Amino acid sequence: MSQGNFGVAGLGVMGQNVALNIERNGFEVIAYNRSEDKANEMREKSAGKNVFVTQSIEEFVQKLEPPRRVLLMVTAGAGTDAVIEALTQHLEPGDIIIDGGNSHFPDTNRRNEALQAKGFHFVGCGISGGEEGALWGPSIMPGGKYEAYERIAPVLEKIAAKTEDDGPCVTYCGRTSAGHYVKMVHNGIEYGIMQIICEVYDILRKSAGMSTPKIQEVFADWTKSEIGGFLIEITAQCLAKKDDQGSGWLVEKVLDTAGQKGTGKWTAQTALDLGVPIPTLSMAVEARILSGLKPQRVEASKILDGPERRHGKRRKDLVEALFNATYVSMIASYAQGMALIQEASKEYDYGTNLAEVARIWKEGCIIRSKLLDPIKQAFKEQPGLANMLTHPYFSKIVNDTLPDLRKVIRIAARTGVPTTCLGATLAYIESYRSEFLPANLLQGLRDNFGAHTYKRLDMEGVFHSQWNEK
Ligand code: 6PG
Repeated sequence: MSQGNFGVAGLGVMGQNVALNIERNGFEVIAYNRSEDKANEMREKSAGKNVFVTQSIEEFVQKLEPPRRVLLMVTAGAGTDAVIEALTQHLEPGDIIIDGGNSHFPDTNRRNEALQAKGFHFVGCGISGGEEGALWGPSIMPGGKYEAYERIAPVLEKIAAKTEDDGPCVTYCGRTSAGHYVKMVHNGIEYGIMQIICEVYDILRKSAGMSTPKIQEVFADWTKSEIGGFLIEITAQCLAKKDDQGSGWLVEKVLDTAGQKGTGKWTAQTALDLGVPIPTLSMAVEARILSGLKPQRVEASKILDGPERRHGKRRKDLVEALFNATYVSMIASYAQGMALIQEASKEYDYGTNLAEVARIWKEGCIIRSKLLDPIKQAFKEQPGLANMLTHPYFSKIVNDTLPDLRKVIRIAARTGVPTTCLGATLAYIESYRSEFLPANLLQGLRDNFGAHTYKRLDMEGVFHSQWNEK
């Protein structure tokens, strides 16, 4: 029996799959796409199902029962504004527009204000899980006015991924652009963890001289461990894939230049604006940019020397150390992301519940892993926790595993393998745990050339000195 209808505008693969997910959960879906090919694809995929497909925006709006609920599944950017503009010609005050794309949070703020002024409700909603997740249960991160969230929550709870013990992977992330902010940081963490995995792979092949199948075994083994989760699982999958165009392993034939669509960069940018250190996540963006300099790297590889590589014999020790290095670096990635959301929630008055964010990342999303449950517990116990590294559960793991991160970086340095994110992670933790940093000298330098003044450890006040006089 139908439980009311729900509109989906934008029928790319994600839009199609979310629409099918909504229909499977008992709602009639009214689906809209202006272009014929996408609309026809949807017609084919939904044949015999409770889905009505239209290419007319008027008909789309007419078919929906007021107050209308419209989910936009449009590529973030100008396209989102265009669809909103067209829709609002026909919608009525009180209708709800949900933006399910990866929109940049300042755009969500702008749209939120404009739409509210016209009497519409707007929900900026992060959706994670890729194509499969969209169809079978994504992690959903909505934000905006709570009263609008309440009206769509029954649908979102049905279509979201389910945890075994912790409910559906959807929660109210907070006011205004909180949903898209949380999703952006999710992607920042995704960038960090993926780059860590890639550096570990690089050390295994270059420093230890291991073959792709041997490296695959390592990751397959880790899927059952404390760091097990989606990204480790799909790493094992990627490394097991045979080249269907020739012989050998597909991953070895893939051009080593990474793409990006912006969410990782935005995470780094907002962290700089808010003054929150997230070096692991930021360096993952830098690593992608460096990978893009392929022609320059090819030239430089002929000019700049690296150390001679002799593969050590103690592979088992290295694999164990790499496990711990991955463990601590994954924890640091989540810690940096959570600290950023914590600060953004204060600065932008989101009112985000960090324990809830960790809970809804337990299933469905790209960064789901076994670490999310203890992260949830930590923030449940201490909602104002500034950095989860200091929570007793995580500080014990960090203290146990950090020596191995140091060891891995020594080995990588000795064998000339870049550790862009692993190195940034070590520096982050070493800095964070340092009572004293060399910023005393930095302040001296600033005061020396620019009279920027400094404070003292042993006296109150603001000081300036003539540093060129002994
Ligand atoms: C998700 C993903 C999804 C998408 C990223 C990839 O949570 O489902 O994060 O949103 O795969 O946008 O981003 P890049 O193309 O920048 O790697």
